[in-house]
Amino acid sequence: MAVSFSNDIQPLFSQFKGQMMWRFDLTNYDHVKANAALILSRINDPGYQMPPPPMDPLTPDQIQLFQQWINDDFPL
Ligand code: HEM
Repeated sequence: MAVSFSNDIQPLFSQFKGQMMWRFDLTNYDHVKANAALILSRINDPGYQMPPPPMDPLTPDQIQLFQQWINDDFPL
């Protein structure tokens, strides 16, 4: 299944948008693309987890979806 920003990534991040607006807009394609490597590292790192504890981390499937979006060269 092809991954896209509008169908997969924006819905995944939208509930967290307000709490990250100080740094970037998690629902904005250009912002997420520009920060993709940093975002990937933070959703994967239990020591510096985003979303932060006590919130639940993203699931392995959700993290894989974001990884696939990067691998596929950021489809809109
Ligand atoms: C999936 C959702 C989220 C993603 C992808 C995300 C991503 C990130 C990234 C990439 C950074 C590092 C920014 C930098 O170093 O310049 C960061 C920092 C931060 N985020 Fe988030 N964030 C998410 C959710 C949240 C939520 C829900 C909150 C608040 C409840 C939050 C609060 C913070 C704070 C306070 C920092 C700065 C302190 C730190 O680096 O740990 N984030 N986030």
